[in-house]
Amino acid sequence: MDADPTGIALPATDRSAGPASAYQAPELTVVIPTFNERDNVDPLLAKLRTALAGIEWEAIFVDDDSPDGTAARVIERARTDSRIRCLRRIDRRGLSSACIDGVLASAAPYFAVIDADMQHDETLLPDMLRQIRADGLDIVIGSRYVAGGGTGEWSGHRIAISRFANALSRLVTRVRLTDPMSGFFLMRREAFDRAAPSLSGQGFKILLDLFASSPKPLTFAELPYTFRSRTFGESKLDAQVVWDFLMLLLDKTVGRFVPVRFALFAAVGGIGVLVHLAVLAASLAIGFGFAVSQTTAMLVSMTGNFLLNNLITFRDRRLKGRAVIRGLLSFYLVCSVGAVANVGVATMIYEGDVIWWAAGIAGAVVGAVWNYAASTIFTWRTR
Ligand code: GDD
Ligand code: MN
Repeated sequence: MDADPTGIALPATDRSAGPASAYQAPELTVVIPTFNERDNVDPLLAKLRTALAGIEWEAIFVDDDSPDGTAARVIERARTDSRIRCLRRIDRRGLSSACIDGVLASAAPYFAVIDADMQHDETLLPDMLRQIRADGLDIVIGSRYVAGGGTGEWSGHRIAISRFANALSRLVTRVRLTDPMSGFFLMRREAFDRAAPSLSGQGFKILLDLFASSPKPLTFAELPYTFRSRTFGESKLDAQVVWDFLMLLLDKTVGRFVPVRFALFAAVGGIGVLVHLAVLAASLAIGFGFAVSQTTAMLVSMTGNFLLNNLITFRDRRLKGRAVIRGLLSFYLVCSVGAVANVGVATMIYEGDVIWWAAGIAGAVVGAVWNYAASTIFTWRTR
């Protein structure tokens, strides 16, 4: 058995060992993340029962306290079928983290992740299981982009977005999958356990996360399926999901060196310096005095930085309406203290006989770290 980074030493896949109890963990756990999918519960269960006949399976629904009562529906079904369980999460949202929690609650040697809305083709599950065992793979993925698969009734617009996201993630993660965005796959739990400690768990893209977080490359196969259209409920894919996806990519690349949010903050700061210089130059050219020009440049660049950070860096905590004014004022305040710290530190270092540009850089770094830390606490604070 491999060294187990999770600290839970699991006997490989020997299901005959253990105390003489009537219960045996099933071979396959089907993890189903749900948010407002009440009307899909019964049709999905019916489809799973048919597709998985002859396989020992269980289903774990992970529901983020859907207002439509999905959890209640699942629990009702769980009362008459011991293969069904509901993991209800309160005060948490997120497709990836829901999948992770579901897998962590399973004792089976294999698990699958499938959407509740029947857009994924559950009849593929037995083939996936057969192949993962026959070839000793870590994971088998349902793909829309291998020969025989398809995106069904998708609009050209959505296909284009999907292809672009695919290309981008291949570029960034070096993961050679035809459908890295797929939310439909079957995996060996030991392989999951190895990746679990490093998973980012953010957003929608659990598959990409698993590949990018595995300590050794996952051995995989892809099986074609056609994405069906939704009958009940609606998709949760929105701008936030796209944002989370980009953050995941950044986290798995620059995130190894600096926190993604700080990198964004610093990039915005860099733009701010350019804005400052441009305004300063323009103002001097018009004929204003230096002090006036410098003050104008500072106000413009601080305001610009605030708006950009509000739009990008702190998108998930974006200030709206009146909070924007309060936030802007607190950002001015934070940056003023940062500027004082910047000049103070730089001067101190410069006086210690250090070359001017090194002192300047040191001051700027101290200022940037202060601005970041303080604005995280005061301007874009979490409730
Ligand atoms: N627990 C939980 N929490 N479940 C969620 C959440 C959440 O915050 N958001 C979405 N879900 C559930 C939905 O209820 C559904 O069962 C599944 O996750 C997929 O959500 P959809 O909103 O239907 O996503 P989609 O159809 O646009 O995209 C899906 O399929 C694509 C192709 O495989 C997702 O699985 C994508 O990740 C995937 O790329
Ligand atoms: Mn869907």
